Amino acid sequence: MRAKIIGTGSYVPEKVITNYDLEKMVDTTDEWIRTRTGMVERRIASNNEAASDLAIMAAKRALKDADVKAKDIEMILLATATPDMLFPSTACIVQTALGIKGAAAFDISAACTGFIYALSITEEYIKSGKYKTILLITTELLTRYIDWTDRSTCILFGDGASAMVIQGTNSRDGGVISTHIHADGSYADFISVQGGGSRCVVSHESVDKKLHFMKMKGNETFKMAVKMMTATAREALSYNGFSVDDINLFIPHQANIRIINAVSKKLGIAPEKIYINIEKYGNTSAVSIPLALDEVVKGGRLSKGDLILMVAFGGGLTWGSALVRW
Ligand code: COA
Repeated sequence: MRAKIIGTGSYVPEKVITNYDLEKMVDTTDEWIRTRTGMVERRIASNNEAASDLAIMAAKRALKDADVKAKDIEMILLATATPDMLFPSTACIVQTALGIKGAAAFDISAACTGFIYALSITEEYIKSGKYKTILLITTELLTRYIDWTDRSTCILFGDGASAMVIQGTNSRDGGVISTHIHADGSYADFISVQGGGSRCVVSHESVDKKLHFMKMKGNETFKMAVKMMTATAREALSYNGFSVDDINLFIPHQANIRIINAVSKKLGIAPEKIYINIEKYGNTSAVSIPLALDEVVKGGRLSKGDLILMVAFGGGLTWGSALVRW
């Protein structure tokens, strides 16, 4: 049994923040942001939108695209670093809103690698025969955890959600060929939001110390991202006996254009095979790869049989790759 993506959907909030808007907020310039990150604008959720609201919109679009009814979904797997609340899971909130009764529903936390982790879990559930039809969702509102006075982080992130319906098939025509996921918790302090968990519950003191905001070691994270994304891309290729020339489309996590270019150069991937939309959305964490895939699919850029290599990296540190035959 192979896991096949049979429908995709995504949703980004309407509000746009441009580099010029950021120029008015912190000591930065459009030129610095463009050249150092590749970003031009990003979306930001409205005050009354939470992770589940974005997720529901994306999920409805994916279900419609797949022509699958809510009652046919056996499991909802939702990757997010920014859930509606500590518990219950955002997946449970989405389940009720979509009228999917009784299906298993849970969140997973792997930061920007959340999509690859979720796809890996989905693949295993389907291969084992346990479930046939799974709704995989990623949703992120990282802008809620940004210190808007910190120019090194506030320029980087955007909000959004993406979803796909994945179904088991006996055909070897297409589907997920392999997934590889990794982590190294000794680098946990590279990107983190420390406040709000059980180690540091929300208090006046934690807010005064700004512990509810993201902290990041940008430079160190950059270097690890290039190293690990390259390694896991090579791992995916060699595990399946493919060379880089077999790849039709490369969708890397959209964290920084310079990370994408460095990884692509090391791998030797031709520029026309790399999908980049970072200029429109910034870093949307676990959403970036499936959002890009949805754009590719809707844009009619994929042909049956195309080989897609997807590679992500994020807080944890976590990293991973997936190879999908379309
Ligand atoms: N505008 C203008 N200057 C800025 C700036 C901004 N928005 N942000 C930082 N700078 C300044 C710094 O203060 C520093 O100034 P100094 O030399 O006077 O101290 C200078 O630019 C260089 O800073 P540095 O951190 O070395 O820049 P960089 O080239 O590494 O770019 C990032 C910074 C954050 C864009 C880059 O490191 C990055 O993208 N890292 C990876 C982050 C990431 O992907 N995180 C999520 C992983 S999923």
